[in-house]
Amino acid sequence: MKQKLLLSMAGLLLIGGMSSVEARVNMKLSHNHGRNHPVHKAMQYFSDRVKTLTEGEVVIRLYPDAQLGTQRESLEQVQTGAIEMAKSNASELEAFHKPYGVYGYPYIFKDRDHYYEVMMGDIGQSILKSSKDKGFIGIAYYDAGARSFYAKKPITTPDDLKGLKVRVQPSPTAIEMTKYLGANPIPISYGELYTALQQGVVDAAENNMTALTLSRHGEVAKYFSLDEHTMVPDVLVISSIAWDKLTKEQQAAIEQAALESTLYMKELWSQAEEKELAEIEKLNVSIVAVDKLPFQKAVQPMFDQLKVDDPETFEVIENIQLLAD
Ligand code: GCU
Repeated sequence: MKQKLLLSMAGLLLIGGMSSVEARVNMKLSHNHGRNHPVHKAMQYFSDRVKTLTEGEVVIRLYPDAQLGTQRESLEQVQTGAIEMAKSNASELEAFHKPYGVYGYPYIFKDRDHYYEVMMGDIGQSILKSSKDKGFIGIAYYDAGARSFYAKKPITTPDDLKGLKVRVQPSPTAIEMTKYLGANPIPISYGELYTALQQGVVDAAENNMTALTLSRHGEVAKYFSLDEHTMVPDVLVISSIAWDKLTKEQQAAIEQAALESTLYMKELWSQAEEKELAEIEKLNVSIVAVDKLPFQKAVQPMFDQLKVDDPETFEVIENIQLLAD
């Protein structure tokens, strides 16, 4: 009798133990930067905060360096629920959900404060929330600075871009902008870009400084020309399938940790810009000052055309610009 009791107690303990293991939610987060990139650090912070806030119920593991696939492949896996989270950026996401395209329009932000006001305000936040039926939800923006052209030669006017093969992200707006500037846009995934630059498959690319330092493109492109045409944020997304499986408390914890990690990234990015400046010098990359006006003039017809073709997006851009004042 006593033995039976002990046995059934042991059984109960076992079941109790199992259910607490089953209650743990494990999530994979894929992205294409290295562990030394500030965005990896911001997402590690996010993951740690989620673990603390959910008392260990939700555990998010980061898979950097495109181990689980390119940005595009990762997003597709998020849509099917094969992986739970990915960090992409607004240009890449445009191909999955058009509203992200607004971030790809050149020279729409006056400065960093304006950029943050848009991301953290109604416009930015409603874009994050509006893609649930596409299989993913945006939960955080991460600062990725401004994007400028880099190549084996300085690019100080749109004329310098004439006929150049410029690597762009697979974003309709980026492709369009590059054409307005007179170059030939070539969409290539980020992981293939170093070799593409090295072998002359493309003549130029555009990104923030970390591409030249942390991804070492500065070894093969020696001029970084600061035309700062766009400010395209990185975006952390979660699969709609994974989201719906979470409790309300777990969702709230993820939202809180996401916001905290955006603010942490803001600091990290400011530090990174200074740090990478020193690194870029070590790579013997010249930083070229650029008069932005000729670039701004060259892309003006892009906005005139947008007004005719897509008044809805044009209105969003007008609203973004209203926030500049
Ligand atoms: C930035 C961004 C990446 C993106 C890359 C690119 O580095 O952080 O998410 O893949 O630009 O140009 O492809």
